[in-house]
Amino acid sequence: MATSIPADRVPDMGKRQLMNLLLLGAIALPSTGMLIPYTYFFVPPGSGSASGGTVAKDALGNDILADQWLKTHGPGDRTLSQGLKGDPTYLVVEKDRTLATYGINAVCTHLGCVVPWNAAENKFICPCHGSQYNDQGRVVRGPAPLSLALAHCDVDSGKVVFVPWVETDFRTGDAPWWA
Ligand code: FES
Repeated sequence: MATSIPADRVPDMGKRQLMNLLLLGAIALPSTGMLIPYTYFFVPPGSGSASGGTVAKDALGNDILADQWLKTHGPGDRTLSQGLKGDPTYLVVEKDRTLATYGINAVCTHLGCVVPWNAAENKFICPCHGSQYNDQGRVVRGPAPLSLALAHCDVDSGKVVFVPWVETDFRTGDAPWWA
């Protein structure tokens, strides 16, 4: 036999909704607070650039600032920095003292030695088997089969940023072999 609750003992609907709302808030707030760092955990560390590129680093691992770099690197300079995926990449200073819009990956396309810049010869000359590349990294002597890879070199908020080069290789007119 069902027992009925006296009408004056049943809370009214307004109070019920308020209690539900308070309960929901008590659960939702801490849950959201925990969810944000949890979600953030799965996002890979940022490259430090809004453009989706990688900020170039100097030999000490510091971000390279374009202005500072150009104060200490003159026209024609080619100096290694840390580029995309950590690859050694040359920053190029043009004759007009501006940064070139491309960086040159220093990994030799023959067997992967890092190719030094030879300012006297105006070429990159690989010490391992003698391959040579011109001042833009285009192969001019084997055994290396391909030119050095390129990366776009931009300046974002004062920092030098490398972005993958997926367009035609301007030196050869070919599709980029590295993309
Ligand atoms: Fe550069 Fe062989 S690794 S020429």
